[in-house]
Amino acid sequence: MGFPTVRMRRMRVSERLRLMIRETSLSVNDLVMPMFVSEKVSERRPIESMPGCFQIPADAVAADAKKIAETGVPALILFGIPEKKDEKGSEAYSKDGVIQRAVKEIRESGVELVVITDVCLCEYMSHGHCGVVRGEGPAAVVDNDATLKLLARTAVSHAEAGADIVAPSGMMDGAVAAIRGALDEANLKMTAIMSYSAKYASCFYGPFREAAESPPAFGDRRSYQMDAGNWREAMREIEMDIEEGADIVMVKPALAYLDVICRARERFEVPLAAYNVSGEYGIIKAAGEKGWIDEKAAVLEILTGIKRAGADLIISYWAADVAGYIEEA
Ligand code: PBG
Repeated sequence: MGFPTVRMRRMRVSERLRLMIRETSLSVNDLVMPMFVSEKVSERRPIESMPGCFQIPADAVAADAKKIAETGVPALILFGIPEKKDEKGSEAYSKDGVIQRAVKEIRESGVELVVITDVCLCEYMSHGHCGVVRGEGPAAVVDNDATLKLLARTAVSHAEAGADIVAPSGMMDGAVAAIRGALDEANLKMTAIMSYSAKYASCFYGPFREAAESPPAFGDRRSYQMDAGNWREAMREIEMDIEEGADIVMVKPALAYLDVICRARERFEVPLAAYNVSGEYGIIKAAGEKGWIDEKAAVLEILTGIKRAGADLIISYWAADVAGYIEEA
């Protein structure tokens, strides 16, 4: 049966009808808001490469977390900028490191939010790589297995401070197993793991690296983050993380990798997150500021697309704004 018996436009004649048959709707429950906590600032400092985003001091996180909770966004993901960096990333797992203090502040304030912490060493390493570096110059390598112990310590310290979910983002092999083992041993059995399973080496992290003050001092991250051409490899990464005990898996970035999100959704039953990264934010912000695009419409269309591709959760710098848009609608 086809035209003229069938007319697809019949179901598009009114907004009410369109809403009735809409297959994908964004919900505030899908959203996770990133937050940058810095030991180096004494008040909220705007991040130049990410208009509308701020680095905030640890003692101001509770107030910001409260504002986010009021929008209805259920979860935060925290990134830390330490005062001191070294070759061992010591501040990543220090008991009173920036994230540990921030999490405690949020917990003590009683704000009801799911607190997720990014578990990576790049912000804490003097060289800016996501793991322990051995050797020098062109011979320098990131030592996977030596890094695992530090990631496990970091995750345990975040969980002890009160994090609900720890999120390893360094693309080290075996990170999920190492973290799960360490959490269980520390009797933190209910702390969940959201793994950045398929994280690609991407130019779209550019603005974040300014925000988190974490660009690698030499080389790049291609020896641990994934190559943009590969989707089958992403399926293996996700499968391994699930076997190692990941509770949530992630594809990152989102927009250039919607096919990867879609394929992961078809293959795996675990909750799937997508990270709408800083460069994706920047493109729209810049075009919006120039008047070349309607920012709000673009954001809703993009986030709907990420959800339609199959993401259950979307980490986005627009999370709080979108919560407002959903409420208005
Ligand atoms: C840390 C980390 C990065 C992002 C999240 N966690 C940066 C990187 O790998 O260089 C990027 C987030 C964004 O661009 O919004 N490893």
